[in-house]
Amino acid sequence: MNMGQAPNLVDAFGRTITYLRISVTDRCDFRCTYCMAENMTFLPRRDVLSFEEIETIARAFVKRGVTKIRLTGGEPLVRRDIAKLLDRLGGLRSEGLSELTLTTNGNQLEKHAVSLHEAGVRRINVSLDTLDEDRFRSVTRWGKLENVLSGIRAAAAAGLSVKINTVALRSLNEDELGDMVAWAHGEGHSITFIETMPMGQTDRDRADDYLPLSVVKERLAERFTLSPLVKSTGGPARYFRSEATRGDVGFITPLTYNFCAGCNRVRLTAKGELFMCLGQGDHVDLRALVRQDPAGSLLDAALDEAMRLKPEGHDFTIERGAKNVAVDRHMSVTGG
Ligand code: GTP
Ligand code: 5AD
Ligand code: SF4
Repeated sequence: MNMGQAPNLVDAFGRTITYLRISVTDRCDFRCTYCMAENMTFLPRRDVLSFEEIETIARAFVKRGVTKIRLTGGEPLVRRDIAKLLDRLGGLRSEGLSELTLTTNGNQLEKHAVSLHEAGVRRINVSLDTLDEDRFRSVTRWGKLENVLSGIRAAAAAGLSVKINTVALRSLNEDELGDMVAWAHGEGHSITFIETMPMGQTDRDRADDYLPLSVVKERLAERFTLSPLVKSTGGPARYFRSEATRGDVGFITPLTYNFCAGCNRVRLTAKGELFMCLGQGDHVDLRALVRQDPAGSLLDAALDEAMRLKPEGHDFTIERGAKNVAVDRHMSVTGG
């Protein structure tokens, strides 16, 4: 039981849901080539949940035992007044929330770092796929590497612990993943590698990008001694410790090592759909319910329904000659 004494959220496979990811916008100030097409259509603003609506929904989850909330996007820092939302959600600490965090591309982190810390955020995940300026510009389509690096420095200076998220891409960074580990650890950050997932149409063939982390790990093991760690952040990564560089390396392997059996999370989109799996279409519409009763009285029954609908797992595969789009949604809709 949780603080509110309401029943915890347990799905049909016996998994308890304690982690809610909230995508606060589907927009982004980058257009990473593996994530988005160059021309994207974004939600009209009236469709997007207000801060009040997000808070009401988040409270309903915390009452049912959710202890961790992560804001995602698109890019969460492009949503206006995002610190105000963090302040509101921070209020849920007295109701049982223990961690409030966010995943960002780092582009606007420099100006937000202090206010994130002031809002009680202590750990953030920053996506960074290469340390080469030209490669960075080409993968993000228009990003500047230096903005992200100064954002990361500002975050660390503000007292935030930073985890770097790197999507392993054969066409982009295969030859620099070891250097990225050395760099991240040298800066005092842990780093997690992610396999590219077949979500939404991009302008590329995912088979050209896909790099199995089983291969990456073998190569890294030639340079670093990686000892398995029992630590878990409640996320899907499996962590290893590199003593020599005094840092951790995580691997998120939806394609090569399925972790769905331990899934503890659900995802709210910017327009209020609750998706129960990153790789499936099942969802319930919480926006309609919170607009019907802004006090949130209709949410509890919807969360029970969501638990009944949560699928066992995703069916991601990436193959040559295949369409390689398991779900029509881009990652930016559900925020990973
Ligand atoms: P921490 O462990 O708290 O650091 O968080 P996390 O790894 O859950 O969050 P983060 O936003 O850093 O997630 C990294 C990436 O992992 C996401 O963007 C997704 O690409 C992927 N990911 C997160 N959860 C899932 C999941 O349930 N299934 C799959 N297939 N991928 C996921
Ligand atoms: N597969 C894997 N990771 C992706 N991301 C975005 N699109 C994909 C995809 N198709 C990553 C981003 C960021 C996180 C939110 O998800 O790089 O690290
Ligand atoms: Fe934006 Fe992140 Fe997608 Fe890149 S991966 S386009 S930064 S949402």
